[in-house]
Amino acid sequence: MSIRRKMFAAMAVMVVLICSTFIQLSVEFLADRFDRYVAAVGIEQWTAADVAGLKSHLLRAMAFGSTGGAIFTGLIGLLIGYILIRTFTKPLQRLIPAIQKVADNDFSFQLNASTNDEFGQLTEAFNVMTRRLGQAEQARTRLVADVAHELRTPLAIMQSRLEVIQEAGQAVRPEVLLPLQDELARLTGLVDDLHQLTLAEAGQLPLRRQETELSELVQKVADILHPAALERQVKVSLSFEATRSVASVDPRRIVQVFYNLLSNAIRHSSPGGTVTIRMTDSEQQKGSRRRAETPCVSITIADTGGGIPADELPFVFNRFYRVGEARSRHAGGTGLGLAIAKEFVEAHGGRITVQSDVGKGTEFVVFLPV
Ligand SMILES: Nc1ncnc2c1ncn2[C@@H]1O[C@H](COP(=O)(O)OP(=O)(O)O)[C@@H](O)[C@H]1O
Ligand SMILES: [Mg+2]
Repeated sequence: MSIRRKMFAAMAVMVVLICSTFIQLSVEFLADRFDRYVAAVGIEQWTAADVAGLKSHLLRAMAFGSTGGAIFTGLIGLLIGYILIRTFTKPLQRLIPAIQKVADNDFSFQLNASTNDEFGQLTEAFNVMTRRLGQAEQARTRLVADVAHELRTPLAIMQSRLEVIQEAGQAVRPEVLLPLQDELARLTGLVDDLHQLTLAEAGQLPLRRQETELSELVQKVADILHPAALERQVKVSLSFEATRSVASVDPRRIVQVFYNLLSNAIRHSSPGGTVTIRMTDSEQQKGSRRRAETPCVSITIADTGGGIPADELPFVFNRFYRVGEARSRHAGGTGLGLAIAKEFVEAHGGRITVQSDVGKGTEFVVFLPV
């Protein structure tokens, strides 16, 4: 039962109880006075003065009785009110120290929802809130640790290079500066990526949408990465089979998505391998409740590389997650590429999936609404 109904029922019971007690007490008191008066005066020889006397006696008795009755029932009312207030504010008193703990950044505990009313709902909402706050706090701590870890290596390299340059005390040769520039570029890229990713995760990624022919966009990315594919002796084959491929997207973001996916595919292919990009019509289920299907285009990027082990596959979209040897190797990416791809695609109302067989290859599919 809701607190409002409980209160209302309690008040109704209280009013009935108080009124009936009051009336009963007054009537009994009056009857008693009347009997006593009649017994004292003797009713046979009544005069007009006796009747007037009875009247004033009864009036006095009534004033006295109702004062006593009011005090008595008032006390009962106060007692009942006190019990009611105690009952209704008890859960609040459990909540107050809990809120104070949250204010002190302690999100670790949960309240027991003991009642089925508004306080129960409040407790439940409070528990959800502290859980979310706890997760957000954990994510924040982990992010700071990850960023610090990622920054440390390039910074250390730059520092040692600078020391060498300083100790040499000579004019600086370009080839000494080159690794410094590389590390600087890496750091700048990392900071930019992190910035974009944080914006996307907060749902604040600015999107400059425009009607874009996706096949042209994919072709552009393939052209940009053509030298890299040549260098690794990887063949990139494209096939555009979609009938609808114009989508309202932010071309810069979607180029970034395909750049990240295709550069991964090329990097993880062995020489002589093939990366296949295929664009087809597709349908995407919009949410689980509404079974509405939105027309989509699907872009598959499949490689014949080493693949990703099944137990690592669920984590590849996590930020800073790197598979196998990439984890320890300083060279290569930062582990942000797939996280960014996923966030960007989802910001456009699409989704991205991955399938992989170790030894056979990996296949990423991007679905975008058209
Ligand atoms: N096509 C692929 N084939 C095999 N492994 C891949 C492929 N794409 C991504 N991975 C693995 O997933 C991890 C995460 O990828 P990504 O987020 O792009 O990070 P990175 O910056 O290391 O490229 C990489 O460390 C890589 O090992
Ligand atoms: Mg990558």
